[in-house]
Amino acid sequence: MKTEFAVLTGGPEDSSLYERAGACIRSGGLVAFPTETVYGLGGNGLDRTASGRIYAAKGRPSDNPLILHIARREDLLPLVKAVPSAADRLMDAFWPGPLTLIFRKNAVVPDETTGGLDTVAVRMPSHPAATAFLLAAGVPVAAPSANLSGRPSPTSAEHVRADMDGRIEMILDGGPCDIGLESTIVDVTEEVPVILRPGYIGLAALRELLGEIRVDPAVLSRPSEEIRPKAPGMKYRHYAPQAEMLLVEGPAGAVEDYIAEQCLGEETLRCGVLCSTESAPHYRARFEKAGRRLPVFPMGSLKQDEEIARHLFAALREVDRIGLDRVYTEAFRDGPLAEAIMNRLKKAAGYRIIEITGKE
Ligand code: TXA
Ligand code: MG
Repeated sequence: MKTEFAVLTGGPEDSSLYERAGACIRSGGLVAFPTETVYGLGGNGLDRTASGRIYAAKGRPSDNPLILHIARREDLLPLVKAVPSAADRLMDAFWPGPLTLIFRKNAVVPDETTGGLDTVAVRMPSHPAATAFLLAAGVPVAAPSANLSGRPSPTSAEHVRADMDGRIEMILDGGPCDIGLESTIVDVTEEVPVILRPGYIGLAALRELLGEIRVDPAVLSRPSEEIRPKAPGMKYRHYAPQAEMLLVEGPAGAVEDYIAEQCLGEETLRCGVLCSTESAPHYRARFEKAGRRLPVFPMGSLKQDEEIARHLFAALREVDRIGLDRVYTEAFRDGPLAEAIMNRLKKAAGYRIIEITGKE
């Protein structure tokens, strides 16, 4: 299949692209589109065949349910059995935006879209291109992140092209994603709402709004027989680079020393470092002094962990592109997005975490 790559300009000429993309969705095709979190791989969410095609294009297990994307809040009502009051409060505060809610589903939503669950995930994105595309489609659009299963979520149209060229009808290029991590998921079907996936909207903001909220145990630790994630997708080894990835925690100075020594001590494996812009010069100086040119990927400033979130998945893709054998990553514990960033890093590292002690 030939994949059409359409660059959005933000001007009136985009409207014919949205029309084409919308028509493509209605006729059962697949279109990748930008959102404020990551790029989505969209298909008609009420059409079981389209959902099947999404799983096939991603190479994704079909027990992993899809999120339905809508452009207007009233589009939610036909999809769900009830809208609990907590959901109303969450939608008032955070829709449109990076928040997905889980509801009891109505029969119009096919089992293929929800991986056989009797619940459905719904999100109303805030990216203007997503809104225009969803309005043009005129149906709820089922969209997982537009990566091949097991690869990092795409935060640019180039990432989507790398994974999906030849597998889908169309890619809408709206530039890089602003947030860079997938939406926060909250299950509102329970008496006390439960966070199934941390994201840009953090625990503190949710707790302030709702009072009581729980965090699914699988968010905090490695899923196991005892700890089964309620979001089926959270059990898969996600975002995993081909390289072996190790997460190093501890006081900043000690972490830098440890990672630099490990990288320089390794003679056969090609190592690299994911880090903050603050610590990057330290690694570079150490490597240069040793006469070694090892790759260092500064993702953003510790003072602005939004930058780190925005660049994290691109950095993981870069690690793969240059074919590193091993990558060390610093832990990011202090900023407002720490929960979401650490959740993705731990999963990417397959929960291989090294804790060190030592100088601050
Ligand atoms: O930011 C996002 O949410 C992006 C953009 C494209 O909107 N989408 C996204 O979709 O990250 P995906 O498919 O990569 O992740 C969806 C997650 C999976 O972990 C899935 O298991 C969970 O949502 N999920 C979907 N429906 C669910 C349901 N009914 N109950 C529990 N978890 C659900
Ligand atoms: Mg995904």
